[in-house]
Amino acid sequence: MKVPINVPVIDKEEINEVRSVLLGKSLTSAANSGGRRVQEFEKLLASFVKSRYAIAVNSGTAALQAALYALEVKKGDEVLLPSFTFVATANAVMSVGARPVFVDILKENYTIDPNDLRKKITKRSTVIIPVHLYGNMAYIDEISEIAHKHNLEVIEDAAQSLGSTFRGRHSGTFSKLGCFSMYAAKVVTSGEGGAIVTNDKNLFEKLRKIRNHGMLHGYDTRILGLNLRLPEINAAIAKIQMKKIHKLLRRRRENARILSELLSDLDITIPHERLGERVNWYLYTIALKNRNKMMRELKSKGIEAAAYYSVPVHKTPFYNKKQNLPVTEWAASNVLSLPVHPLVNHENLLQMSKVLHQVTKS
Ligand SMILES: Cc1ncc(COP(=O)(O)O)c(C=O)c1O
Repeated sequence: MKVPINVPVIDKEEINEVRSVLLGKSLTSAANSGGRRVQEFEKLLASFVKSRYAIAVNSGTAALQAALYALEVKKGDEVLLPSFTFVATANAVMSVGARPVFVDILKENYTIDPNDLRKKITKRSTVIIPVHLYGNMAYIDEISEIAHKHNLEVIEDAAQSLGSTFRGRHSGTFSKLGCFSMYAAKVVTSGEGGAIVTNDKNLFEKLRKIRNHGMLHGYDTRILGLNLRLPEINAAIAKIQMKKIHKLLRRRRENARILSELLSDLDITIPHERLGERVNWYLYTIALKNRNKMMRELKSKGIEAAAYYSVPVHKTPFYNKKQNLPVTEWAASNVLSLPVHPLVNHENLLQMSKVLHQVTKS
C-alpha cells in the first residue's frame, strides 16, 4: 500500500481534453486574452471564487511575481510575510528586488500572527502577503484592518487554499489580488500553473500585459512583463479539474471528518475549522511531540506523511536570518501533514489511525 501525500485525480475527461488540444495544434496563444482553454479556465475559476476577473499564469510563483509587479513593488520596499510557508512566497518578493520581512504565526492555525505583524511594520513596508497555509484561512479581517490603517496593500497567497472560505467568501478574494497555484499536488492541478484573481479592472488589464512581456497588441511593450503564459495543454487539464472541484472538495472534507473522529482520543493537536471558516482540506495537519518518529512509522507503512515545513524560510541557507520566531520554530519541529486527498480510502484512514495510536501510546 502506498498513499502519497497528494496526487492529481486525472480521469478520462482530462485526457480527452488534452488530446483535443494536441489534435487542434493550438498549443499556446500570445494574444492578450490568452488561448481558448486559458480563457475557459479563467471563467470557471472567477465564477467559482466569485471574483470579477481571473488571469491564468504558468505557476503559483509567477502569480505572486505578477501581483507584485502589478502593485509596482520595488527595491527598498519591505514586504511582510510568514516564514512558515513554501519558499516561493519569499522568493517572489526577492525577485522584484524588495525585502521580505518575516512575521511569526499563530499556533492555532499556522497562519500569520496579526500582533507580530503590527510590530514589524516600518516606514518602508508596502505590502502584506498572508498565506492561507494548508487551506487554513489567515485572520484576514484583522490583517485587512492593519493594512488599511498603515496604508499597505494585501496580496493573498492562496496557493494552498482554493475552495477555502471565511463567512462564505473565498480565499484570494479578500484583498486586491489573490494568487493560486495549480502545481501537481494542489487541490486543482494543471501539472504546473497558477492564477491571480481580482475585482479591479485596471489591475486585470495590467496583469494580462505583465503575463505577456508588458505587451497589449504585440511588440508594443508598455510595462515590464515576462512570459508567464499558461500553455493550452495545462489550461485544458485545469479547466476539467475546475468542473469537478465540488466533488474533489467533498471527498477531502469527508476524509478529514473521518480522520478527526478516529484520532479524537489521542493526545495530539488535530486541525479544526474556526467559526465561519470552511477549509479545503488540502492537507490534514496535526501537531505532536514525537513528530519525526511518527513520520518514519507512517512512511514504513506506505503512508507519505510530510513535515511542511521542517525548515522555515528564514532558516534556509539563502535567507539565513538570525531571527527569533518562536511559534514558527515550534511548528517546524512539531507539525505533520497527513493525506486526505480524494483517492485516500477508508482502509487508508484506518491504517493511519492505527499507526498514530500505536506510536502515541508506545
Ligand atoms: C504557499 C505557497 N506559495 C506559493 C507556491 C508556489 O506555487 P508554484 O509551485 O505553483 O509555483 C506554493 C506551491 O507550491 C505554495 O504552497
